[in-house]
Amino acid sequence: MVNSVLVTGATTGLGRETALYLAEKGFQVYATTLNPQDSDAIEAPARKRNLNLQVLQLDITDPEGINDVMRTIYEQTGGIYGVVNNAGIGLRGYFEDLSEEEIRRVFEANVFGTMAVTRAALKYMRPARQGRIVIITSVGGKTGALAVSAYCATKFAQEGFGESLAQEVLPFGIHVSLVEPAIIKTERWGINRGVAKGALNPESPYFEWFRESERLSDLLVKTSPTKPLDVARAIHRALSEKKPRLRYMVGSRAKLVFALRRYLPGELFERIYFSYFIKKVTTRR
Ligand SMILES: NC(=O)c1ccc[n+]([C@@H]2O[C@H](COP(=O)([O-])OP(=O)(O)OC[C@H]3O[C@@H](n4cnc5c(N)ncnc54)[C@H](OP(=O)(O)O)[C@@H]3O)[C@@H](O)[C@H]2O)c1
Repeated sequence: MVNSVLVTGATTGLGRETALYLAEKGFQVYATTLNPQDSDAIEAPARKRNLNLQVLQLDITDPEGINDVMRTIYEQTGGIYGVVNNAGIGLRGYFEDLSEEEIRRVFEANVFGTMAVTRAALKYMRPARQGRIVIITSVGGKTGALAVSAYCATKFAQEGFGESLAQEVLPFGIHVSLVEPAIIKTERWGINRGVAKGALNPESPYFEWFRESERLSDLLVKTSPTKPLDVARAIHRALSEKKPRLRYMVGSRAKLVFALRRYLPGELFERIYFSYFIKKVTTRR
């Protein structure tokens, strides 16, 4: 039985944890790295845990590279059982401080890259009449937040894409799941933070507010009870449950925020929650 799973962006954070966890659970994992020189970041922990996984180079914005990776997996394993669309980038800054180029770049990776990888995988899954597509969206794909408008726009786009695609491919036995993590400490909050150039300009009318919102974000990261392993477990469920869910929300804080938003009447949530953050970043201390 084919059990090969592709995990994109697997040399850091959630992707690395997921690739290792799935290998531990017996999947034939193909973990991809954007830069070949980073492959040891996943190979070393795999060796240490005595796990078998294969590392391939992949830029999800390169259509030829995507096809090569799919072909390699198909030729080596006879099919592609699952794809975990994890790779992506961040973009932080108030909207007016984001350049057109920076916005296009984040859409290119998070939206068009995810779509391109999914399209290439479906070519193999559809004739096999089985497969699992997992997309790592975010709590930011369900609730917007200040200073991450473009990033949230890509995550909302992933949500709409996944929810629609799920209905198109189910008759072929292919399941699509959206995994929605809360804030989790990973490289995303360090070297991969993706702060827009304009957001660092002290002349920006948003400069002080942005600094305050970054301070607040760091506090949320530091105190987050959610760990990369929680995401890996949810992805494993999406790949292995007989009837996988369309959505797996990961993290108690995200679940609470979402429940409040769903059940509070008359946009009360928006008024309280959004106002809280606006006030928090705009009030001079
Ligand atoms: N951490 C959080 O708080 C959080 C919360 C909700 C959702 N998420 C989502 O979870 C996913 C993983 O995030 P993370 O926290 O693990 O962040 P991360 O550590 O920055 O991981 C992102 C990975 O994607 C790779 N990547 C970036 N652009 C790529 C491209 N064009 N082609 C191939 N790979 C590319 C990066 O490679 P390089 O390192 O070489 O650039 C990196 O390995 C992302 O989709 C993120 O939006 C994260």
